[in-house]
Amino acid sequence: MADSWSSSVDAHLDWTPGSGRNGLAKAVRAAIRDGRWRPGSVVPSTRALAHDLGLARGTVTRVYSDLVAEGYLLTSQGAPTRVATAGVEPLSMPRTVSAEEPRPRWTFMPGRPDPSLFPRDAWVAATRRVLQHTPNETFDYGEPRGSSVLRATLAAYLGRGRGVLADPARIVICAGYSHALSVLGRALRELGITETAFEDPSVRAFRDLAEASGQRVVGVPVDGGGLRVDQLSSPAVVVTAAHQAPLGVTMAPARRTALARTGAVIVEDDYDGEFRYDRHQVGAVQALAPERVVYAGSVSKTLSPSLRLGWLVLPRFLVDPVVAALTTSGAQPPALAQLTLAHLISSGGYDRHVRRCRIEYRSRRDALVAALPRHLNPQGISAGLHLVLPLDTAAESRVPATARRHALAVATVGAQRMRPSEGAGGLIVGYGAPAKHAFAGALDALLGMLREL
Ligand SMILES: Cc1ncc(COP(=O)(O)O)c(C=O)c1O
Repeated sequence: MADSWSSSVDAHLDWTPGSGRNGLAKAVRAAIRDGRWRPGSVVPSTRALAHDLGLARGTVTRVYSDLVAEGYLLTSQGAPTRVATAGVEPLSMPRTVSAEEPRPRWTFMPGRPDPSLFPRDAWVAATRRVLQHTPNETFDYGEPRGSSVLRATLAAYLGRGRGVLADPARIVICAGYSHALSVLGRALRELGITETAFEDPSVRAFRDLAEASGQRVVGVPVDGGGLRVDQLSSPAVVVTAAHQAPLGVTMAPARRTALARTGAVIVEDDYDGEFRYDRHQVGAVQALAPERVVYAGSVSKTLSPSLRLGWLVLPRFLVDPVVAALTTSGAQPPALAQLTLAHLISSGGYDRHVRRCRIEYRSRRDALVAALPRHLNPQGISAGLHLVLPLDTAAESRVPATARRHALAVATVGAQRMRPSEGAGGLIVGYGAPAKHAFAGALDALLGMLREL
C-alpha cells in the first residue's frame, strides 16, 4: 500500500460518520460502482482521507487493503493508489462526450493558423513580466470594456499597423470576433437596427451568430471587386474588405469609397489584415468613415484562436450600447491574458512574431501555388491564410467524399453560400492550418484529391 504517497485529491464519499471500517469500505465500493470514482483515477491518500473524515489513518489503510484484495483498487510501489481499470463493472458511468468522427489526418481547413507557430517562449516571458509588475487590482473583476492598458496599446498598434483611427475610449475587448459580433448584434437591435447584410458567400457560422443575436440576415453578392455595394440596402453590413472570406478578393478602391458613403453601419471584419504578401498593405475602411464603421480584429490568426481575444473600435454612437450588451453578455477574456497581449505588443514581440509568421505563410503559399496544376487558376493568393481554386459545381459536390478518401479536411465555397445552387463553386485551401512538419504531407493529399476530382 503506497500510503506514504501524499496525494491530496478531493473526493466525495457518501459516508455515514460512525459507520466505521465497514461503512467506509461500503462507501468507496459504491463510489466505484457508480462511476463517481472512475477507473484509473488516483484516490485520496490514506493520510488525507483519514484527516478529512476524522478517522484513524490505520482504519483507512485497512479499508484500502481490503479493497485492493477485492479488486476495487490497485497499488504499485512508489505510485499513488488508483481505482482498478478492469474487473469492477460500474453500474452507470457519468455521461461522456459522444464518440466523434475521427479527425482526417491532413488539414487545409480555412480560418486556422498553424498552432505549432504559437510563440510559447515570448508568451511565457510576457506573462511572467506582467505577473511581476501588475498591481493587485488586476486580480479583481475587470473593467467591462476591457483592460485600459490593452485598449491604449491597441489604439497605437492599430493606428500604426492598420491605419485605424482608434481612441482607447472607443475600443472594447471581447472574447474573439464571434463574441464581438453577437454583442454587436444585440446592441444594434437595442438601437432598432434588426437587419444585417453579409457578403454572399461568407462564413456561415458568423451569419448564424448574427441571427442568434436578433438580426435578420440578408446576403449581398460579391464579385471581383468585392461586395456589390450597389445592391446593399440594409441598415448594417458585415464586410471582409481586405481579403474577402472566403473568395479572397480585395475590395476595389471605388467600392470602398462607395461603401463608406452608404450611411449603413459597416462592420469591417479585418480577420487576416496582418498577412499581406504581394501588394502594399490595404488600410482599413474604418479610416474613411470612423463614425459609421465598426472595426473588428482578433488574435485568432496571428497568435491562436484558443486565446479568445478580440476587439472592436466603435463609432461614438455605439460605445454605450455595445458596453451595455458586453456587460450583460457575461463573458470577458481573462485580465491576465489581456495584459500579456498588451505587453507582447508594446515590447515589439508581437510584431516580430507576425513577421515570422508572414514569412512562413508566404513560403507555404508559394510552394502551394507552384505545386498546383496551372489550369486550376488559384484566386485570392495575395493575402491571408487561404486561397480558392475555382471548381464547377459538379466537381465541388464531389469534394467531401473525395477529401475523405484522401484523409484531408478542406472546405468548399458552396457550403458558405446563402443560396448554394447560385454562383460558382470552389475549393478553399487554408494553407495556414497544417503544422509546419505536416505541410508537405497535406500538400500531397491535396494534389492526390485534385487529380481524382
Ligand atoms: C472571416 C473570419 N473572421 C473572423 C475570424 C475570427 O473569429 P474569432 O476571433 O471568433 O476566432 C475568423 C476565424 O475563422 C474568420 O474566418
